[in-house]
Amino acid sequence: MNTDKLKQLDAADPLRHLQEAFDIPEDTIYLNGNSLGPLCRASRERINEVVNDQWRSDLIASWNKHDWIDLPLITGNKIAPLIGAREGQVVSCDSVSVNLFKLLSTALMLRPECEIILTLQDNFPTDLYIAEGLSRFLGDARLKVRSLDLEDLDLALESTPAIVMLTQVNFRDGSALDIEAITRKAQSNGSLVIWDLSHSVGVMPLEMDRWNVDFAVGCGYKYLNGGPGAPAFLYVAERHLPHSEQALQGWMGHKAPFEFRPEYDASEGIERFLSGTPPIISLAALDAALELFDGTDSTLLRKKSAALAETFLILKAQYPELDELQLVSPTDPELRGAQLCFSHEKAYWICQALVERRLFADFRNPDVLRLGFSPLFLSFSGLHDAVYLLARVMREKSYENHKFAKKDKVT
Ligand SMILES: Cc1ncc(COP(=O)(O)O)c(C=O)c1O
Repeated sequence: MNTDKLKQLDAADPLRHLQEAFDIPEDTIYLNGNSLGPLCRASRERINEVVNDQWRSDLIASWNKHDWIDLPLITGNKIAPLIGAREGQVVSCDSVSVNLFKLLSTALMLRPECEIILTLQDNFPTDLYIAEGLSRFLGDARLKVRSLDLEDLDLALESTPAIVMLTQVNFRDGSALDIEAITRKAQSNGSLVIWDLSHSVGVMPLEMDRWNVDFAVGCGYKYLNGGPGAPAFLYVAERHLPHSEQALQGWMGHKAPFEFRPEYDASEGIERFLSGTPPIISLAALDAALELFDGTDSTLLRKKSAALAETFLILKAQYPELDELQLVSPTDPELRGAQLCFSHEKAYWICQALVERRLFADFRNPDVLRLGFSPLFLSFSGLHDAVYLLARVMREKSYENHKFAKKDKVT
């Protein structure tokens, strides 16, 4: 594939106008939007407005005057169409970890007879840690965690009803599960299902309502570009809302928080899943970034990120020195999310050498180089430079330098 063909792909890209909305430094190729989305101009302007106009001038009156108090719901309602949910079922708050804790507690209260959380061994570690922590807290007799290999999932879904907790797109290899089919199977046996959409939202067509999903969580700082540590979100299906309680019931989930009553009385809506005071600056940055998705069909997002990844693989195949980077993601684009993962024994070193040359990727233990293909800000032409740079690093073995061996806290 040559540069003319890449330019043609860019010219035909219906999302190309959105690249301008981001402020990515000139000399940078950013294939890491799957980990931390880049800064968009709207978020910077909004943070500025919240800090310098609202907080500075209107101080505490801003909670009402600038609708700060409703921001978790306003932002949640902007995420709702991206996951195929009607309004009022999504709220933006806390981290994915905390939201998982809340929803697991909800599911256990809805199904007192369920004594098992069913999950996969290679789920994102925080999901496993939260489930195990809850099990330790409640005791083994009330709750056990069964972490399976994928090939054992089907059979397990047919046995005892459980709280099924799964992540659609695997963080380490990018493989994707079929939410609709798994949800249907689990529910036919009386189980409730919680989906982690962290690596899905903003790149995969999602239909929470149509697929009859019970609960979901997802990240705000990856493909939604909400900023470092942006609030996450949670989804609760309308049919569960009136009966759903959660263990982290705090004053922001109360029907009338400013009546300061000693008894807890949960809000009617999805706000009952709030706990404490929302982080307004972070939430505002996420809320502004979500405007970029306004009116964008999620099938277009999926189509573009899949085309970017396929183009990357075609370009990679043109360089024999890249053969030693083994694709560990599924080869069928239908079976993976928006990332490509390659294994190499020196993956960490390679990643550091790339980042030094301002091609951003990330590394996941033990030997995975991860590249994300965000549809909003990447161009097809940019992939040419990315693959050329990667090939040069591999050909010259410039990653074989001890300075790249030092592991920082965050990889
Ligand atoms: C699938 C998945 N779930 C959860 C998390 C962690 O989310 P949080 O830091 O918001 O708890 C991540 C972070 O990368 C993730 O990839």
